[in-house]
Amino acid sequence: FPIAVLASGTGSNLQAILDTVHLRDGIEVVGVGSNVAGAPALARARAAGVATAAFPLDEHADRAARDAALADWIAARGARLVVLAGYMQLLTPGFLARFPHAVVNVHPALLPAFPGLRAVEQALEHGVRVFGVTVHFVDEGVDTGPIILQRGVELPRAADAAEVFEHIHTIEHELLPEAIRLIARGAVRIDPANPRRVLLGP
Ligand code: GRF
Repeated sequence: FPIAVLASGTGSNLQAILDTVHLRDGIEVVGVGSNVAGAPALARARAAGVATAAFPLDEHADRAARDAALADWIAARGARLVVLAGYMQLLTPGFLARFPHAVVNVHPALLPAFPGLRAVEQALEHGVRVFGVTVHFVDEGVDTGPIILQRGVELPRAADAAEVFEHIHTIEHELLPEAIRLIARGAVRIDPANPRRVLLGP
């Protein structure tokens, strides 16, 4: 089950994928793309022998053209799933149309609470006691697509974002590979009666 990963930054979630599902259970990361040529995530991919490419916005006419080039590269590598692992750009409708219900994202909050940037900081400012992680399908909104997996963690005395992120990252590094495994074995499908909802099989 060939997958592509998009990442803009550090790439700790990419690393978790490379260290767990990659080359196991028939799942292979066939390419890692980024909007940032110097992203540490790309170096992690190269170290694992995975093909990489950068698609900076300023090298293309506009976002639609950039995303078309990105989609062509992913499709040429044969990926059946696109995993956003800290990819800090919105994908255009044209890109999403190329991979229907085949783009997933990991978000550091229990959606639909705290979508968008600085989710952990937003949750802290709100004074929540339960933090968490969501893996969801990507639609045209910001962190609005159908939810695949979620896991919460009670942190009633969390002092700052760094403390919360320690827990969040540990959860992300388990939950994202778990979601990829479920998708690869066909255990994730959209509820025919309610396209907002995902049904999980065994
Ligand atoms: C993660 O916290 C993820 O939830 C968010 O971006 C961060 C990426 O971290 N979407 P890393 O680059 O995988 O370390």
